[in-house]
Amino acid sequence: MKRLIIAIDGPSGAGKGTIARTVAERLRYRHVDTGAMYRAVAWKALHDRIAVDDEPAVGALAQRSNIELDAGRVLIDRHDVTKEIRTPEIDKAASSVARMPRVREALVSRQRRMAEGGGIVMEGRDIGTVVFPTADVKIYLDASADERARRRMNDPAHSGGQAGQAAVAASIEARDRSDTTRTASPLTMAADAVLIDTTGLPIPQVVDRVMALVNERVQRSS
Ligand code: DC
Repeated sequence: MKRLIIAIDGPSGAGKGTIARTVAERLRYRHVDTGAMYRAVAWKALHDRIAVDDEPAVGALAQRSNIELDAGRVLIDRHDVTKEIRTPEIDKAASSVARMPRVREALVSRQRRMAEGGGIVMEGRDIGTVVFPTADVKIYLDASADERARRRMNDPAHSGGQAGQAAVAASIEARDRSDTTRTASPLTMAADAVLIDTTGLPIPQVVDRVMALVNERVQRSS
């Protein structure tokens, strides 16, 4: 059976992580969280005391660093940063390095290599538009701003969050603005993506919708 490339895009807190992971498990595909790659580059820049607005330096760092994504762990140059990249400080720094064309070029070419042979569920902001414009299935997940802030606050993987819902909502809004208005690969829905609004929808229902789209695609190609 053809091993597909499944692209899942959308803003923070729309449910991409949970949905992409579950769909990948069901299909026995690889799951790749590209946001973790931008976060790892931001972490390494802070760690090496490189200014996160110094594009040539951060671009070179993205180019030379080795990023491994394996079974939910994130490593950069052998350093396990799985937990350390989920903090408000890295939220901000990652959003800043993600604006840089040089960083994006370095990461996008690796993302394309990861998908050779298909069998991958990749989540991010530009997967269906830039990384894989010809992906077999393209999903755009969204949810109301309130619901996304609530989910982020209750996300146990996201530490450092003593902030109230209003502060979390403000931080998500600032990142959404940066992600959607930047010049390099802004967050936007691909013309041929299927929009799923996950506000108030239980996870299994969203997974079922995605699986139905995947099955339709498999049937069309067989
Ligand atoms: O999904 P996330 O919050 O972990 O992503 C971290 C940052 O990286 C966020 O500002 C969006 C950006 N990003 C991106 O620009 N392109 C991607 N494919 C994935 C994430």
